[in-house]
Amino acid sequence: MSMKQTIYGLYSSLQSIFIKNVSVDRNRLPRHIAIIMDGNGRWAKSKGLPRKEGHKAGAETLRTIASYCSEIGIEALTVYAFSTENWSRPKEEVDALMELLQEYLDRADEFLIGKDNRIRVLGAPDGLSQKLLQSIRALEEKTKHNTGMTLNIALNYGGREELTQAARRIAADCVAGKLPPEKINSDVMEQYLYTASLPELDLMIRPSGELRLSNFLLWQCAYSEFWFSNINWPDFTPKHLQLALHDYQKRNRRFGGV
Ligand code: IPE
Ligand code: IPE
Ligand code: MG
Repeated sequence: MSMKQTIYGLYSSLQSIFIKNVSVDRNRLPRHIAIIMDGNGRWAKSKGLPRKEGHKAGAETLRTIASYCSEIGIEALTVYAFSTENWSRPKEEVDALMELLQEYLDRADEFLIGKDNRIRVLGAPDGLSQKLLQSIRALEEKTKHNTGMTLNIALNYGGREELTQAARRIAADCVAGKLPPEKINSDVMEQYLYTASLPELDLMIRPSGELRLSNFLLWQCAYSEFWFSNINWPDFTPKHLQLALHDYQKRNRRFGGV
């Protein structure tokens, strides 16, 4: 292990030890949280492991954080698992990610469904294997009447792609005479997005130190609050989420008003 890796290891353990105890008001929780699960590769590198190990550890973190969100009463959690741009990674990494996603969905029962949660996958089906698509459909079907938290997994998701497919379907409905163009407003737009029927996005979280959206939920984050952290996703714990919730509850959301 290199000096840099050792220092990083120490730094992240210290960060976890010294997270302040913060209070979170359970009556003022965000209804909908989004997380860009980033930093798996850097986490693995800091430990001298292959990137795939970072993705594995990231999947475990998702299990913990999704359960925590469901327990405290979050209505919707949307996580960025694979972007439309992530296909540009080496085939070996893409394959490993697809395998992990398949495994995650296969084992979702153990972690979430028993707790009455609903699972939805947001994104384009193009490029996904038949097996994965079948698992997605089965899981969505099986959980569609559950009334707990909705876990949305953004898989082959891109904000621009989402808006483009919405425009395409809206145009088709206009041409077919099902939708008069003058009726198109922001509520109608929302019905054509992957996030249709979900609550407004209140809080967007990005760990790993990057300060960008990377094509995530471009429409939905118009008035959401942002929370960034340097911690890599595999090191992210419910404590970090509590910090984000604590900060969120201190914000003054004006929505353009005074
Ligand atoms: C996030 O971690 C997972 C995906 C994008 C699929 P990364 O793989 O982007 O990790 P870093 O950013 O290289 O550390
Ligand atoms: C965003 O992370 C996508 C996911 C976390 C799935 P990236 O690692 O792909 O984003 P960039 O390349 O840093 O913008
Ligand atoms: Mg990344």
